[in-house]
Amino acid sequence: MRLLNIGIVGATGVVGNLFIRVLEEYGVKCTLKLFASPKSVGKKIEAFGKMYTVEEIKDGSFSGLDYCLFSAGAGTSKKYAKQATSEGTVVIDNSSAYRMDPDVPLVIPECNIHSAYETSLIANPNCSTTQAILPLDALHKAFGLKSVEYTTYQSVSGSGINGINDLLHTRKGESQNFYPHNITETVIPEIDVFMEDGYTKEEYKMMFETNKILGTNIPVSATCVRVPILRGHVVQMKVVLQDKTTVDEVREVIQGYKGIILKDNPKNHEYPVTTEAINNDAVYVGRIRSDKVTPNAFLIYTASDNLRKGAASNSVQIMLELINRNESS
Ligand code: A2P
Repeated sequence: MRLLNIGIVGATGVVGNLFIRVLEEYGVKCTLKLFASPKSVGKKIEAFGKMYTVEEIKDGSFSGLDYCLFSAGAGTSKKYAKQATSEGTVVIDNSSAYRMDPDVPLVIPECNIHSAYETSLIANPNCSTTQAILPLDALHKAFGLKSVEYTTYQSVSGSGINGINDLLHTRKGESQNFYPHNITETVIPEIDVFMEDGYTKEEYKMMFETNKILGTNIPVSATCVRVPILRGHVVQMKVVLQDKTTVDEVREVIQGYKGIILKDNPKNHEYPVTTEAINNDAVYVGRIRSDKVTPNAFLIYTASDNLRKGAASNSVQIMLELINRNESS
């Protein structure tokens, strides 16, 4: 692989910093340009054994960059992603800014990398959607999906540094100043803003993104809940399938899908837990059961690192797939 020039927007943030660590870990040969808000200009960040200085985004900032990974919120992406593509870089955006734009592919490499081939702006899905899609894609290809219902248990790192600080402060007995309730003492069924129909925007993200990534048009509903853990998300789903099948067949198909580790031996306490899922890129799947209410429906429980497969690693994996394709063509 040739030496790449890679930009990171939001380099001082939780996911932005993890982009750097994942690039290091994957052994990507690159030089970096690190961007954050004006208040961080001049900050030093160590990467690949060198000290880089954080810059402010200006006209021409992106020229000469092969790829730029964004994780600085939807507003920043809306402001700068198109500038970056017009200056010649391929953008992989971890914010929600372009996820539902029909002209922007929403990509999980295991599922739909082909949709990212002919474009310069690619969206990275919502952190909970990503971990659900791996088993759902496996089931969709094998049996066809009829509908999906999600309930999530999402850690505070999904809110970035503000969420992490609110949990750490409230754990010490201080009062909250970010979440609407004390996150140390309760779970909060409010992630992102409420919409007119009572769903939250986070729930809408999961409902829309699922169909966009899978290329389906099936009913999906979601309830998203913030829970008092620092890192790792859990998704519980009820999946109704088109073709009649069994729990064993469902388990076998899921186990064979790239990126999934099956943990489904509950009597030995083996099921997905966030403490095992964090710091690696796998999606852990287990508690697979036949639903007692709906025919041909299955209950499936997943855990994954929201900051890695749910954000930084998925973006880097998209970039590496594109590089490999370019180099082999
Ligand atoms: P800064 O640290 O200077 O505020 P998190 O999601 O962990 O809260 O991080 C958000 C990231 O987005 C931070 O790196 C933050 O930089 C960055 N950011 C916020 N606003 C801008 C902006 N206008 N331009 C570039 N980066 C921004």
